[in-house]
Amino acid sequence: MKSIKEIFGLELPQQDITVKGWIKTFRSSKAVSFAELNDGSLRKGLQIIFDNNDKKLSDFFEKLNTGVSVKIIGDLVESPNNANQKCELQAKEIEILGECNPEQYPIQKKRASDEFLRTVAHLRPRTNKYASMLRIRAELSFAIHNYFRNKGFFYVHTPIITTSDCEGAGEMFSVSALDMDKLPLTKDGKVDFSKDIFGQKTALTVSGQLEGEALALALGKIYTFGPTFRAENSNTYRHCSEIWMVEPEMAFCELKEDMELAEDFVKNITKHVIEHCSDDLDLFAKFVDKSLLETLKNVMENKYEHISYDEAVKLLEKDNDKFENKVSWGVDLGSEHERCLVEQYFKKPAILYNKPKDSAAFYMKLNDDGKTVKGMDLLVPRIGELIGGSERENRLEILEQRMSDFRISKEDYYWFLDLRRFGSVPHAGFGLGFERMMMLITGISNIRDVTAFPRVPGYAEF
Ligand code: 4AD
Ligand code: MG
Repeated sequence: MKSIKEIFGLELPQQDITVKGWIKTFRSSKAVSFAELNDGSLRKGLQIIFDNNDKKLSDFFEKLNTGVSVKIIGDLVESPNNANQKCELQAKEIEILGECNPEQYPIQKKRASDEFLRTVAHLRPRTNKYASMLRIRAELSFAIHNYFRNKGFFYVHTPIITTSDCEGAGEMFSVSALDMDKLPLTKDGKVDFSKDIFGQKTALTVSGQLEGEALALALGKIYTFGPTFRAENSNTYRHCSEIWMVEPEMAFCELKEDMELAEDFVKNITKHVIEHCSDDLDLFAKFVDKSLLETLKNVMENKYEHISYDEAVKLLEKDNDKFENKVSWGVDLGSEHERCLVEQYFKKPAILYNKPKDSAAFYMKLNDDGKTVKGMDLLVPRIGELIGGSERENRLEILEQRMSDFRISKEDYYWFLDLRRFGSVPHAGFGLGFERMMMLITGISNIRDVTAFPRVPGYAEF
């Protein structure tokens, strides 16, 4: 058996080719009938031709509804008059593998709304759009590994279950093996986590960074690419509770080089997908976002604007009447401000750096001004923040001070401080939200539609 992708690569003609897949469409004319068969290997399906006079084929016609799975044996020939299709299969035998009742099957030829398709996420990969999205997701993952491997980074695995809250935002999902109906309590009435499976309180990680730092300070250049979790109750087009994050971390690296890597990385993986997924991308450029190719060209070809937080605030303050949340120095910029910078002012991606220390994570390196840290966000059109990163505070005393300011326990993070005690070096890294990258590449406007089974507040079906 060959996939349709392999079949399209064969020399013509070929006898007795076996193909298996799902029927997309079926129609009959006087002498012959046509089906489009898709097996997921490509956006394009294989055209199957049935002779209406061949009873061992025509007996099955009434069952060839959209969605039915079949095995077909036939001869592969050149398509006589079809510009879209190099070859077609002249069926000789057909076997129905799984029937599909058209009254009940929710995926019909007619285009369904994204909202409806989310409710049938187990079947939406059968639509052209979601199959293309998933093939691009696979290629983008490969592009990421390829990029870092070529640059000498080691792929490391950091824990999913952890005792540390990297972003210090308290937005973590607890992990426990305790019986929720019979929680053991301490004398002062709190849950007694010493009785839990790990003997202490644990949660799903929000980022692999802290452990990634430990590994970079041994291997030099590492990256993680894994699931991370945010128990943040944000119902927006760009927030998910479960996301995949790519996090490189480099020893002997400062903010400037970190920003350069982030820009090069985004450009490079975008280029890879354009070169390897043209057919699937074409679907998004035609049906989802007509300006997609132009946006991707912009992302790949322009030098990204670099702007300090100070300068960005000065610019945005002038436009305060347009914003829901007004900008002033110290305010954490939101998507409306980020998008205004890249879409209206610069008309290309931008890197915002030197953020105010009070709203920044504890691990970001303090600048000499005592007010800002060496943190950066890479902003792109339509999404805003795609990457968040920083040079890390590598000076023990200052890090300890920052942890006190944020009321973070030095005892709990003794190991993170050890990294500054024993052979500390300047180091930096960043995190790219994989789903947001998928939104950028496909033009899909809601994060719920760039992952097969999204987890968002209020919804964890499947
Ligand atoms: O900016 P964040 O929170 O940075 C970190 O977690 C750092 N520890 C990364 C590092 O330096 N190693 O998250 C990084 C990126 C964001 O820029 C965003 O693209 C994505 O992860 N992200 C989310 N994407 C979707 N939904 C959410 N709830 C997200 N939270 C973060
Ligand atoms: Mg961030």
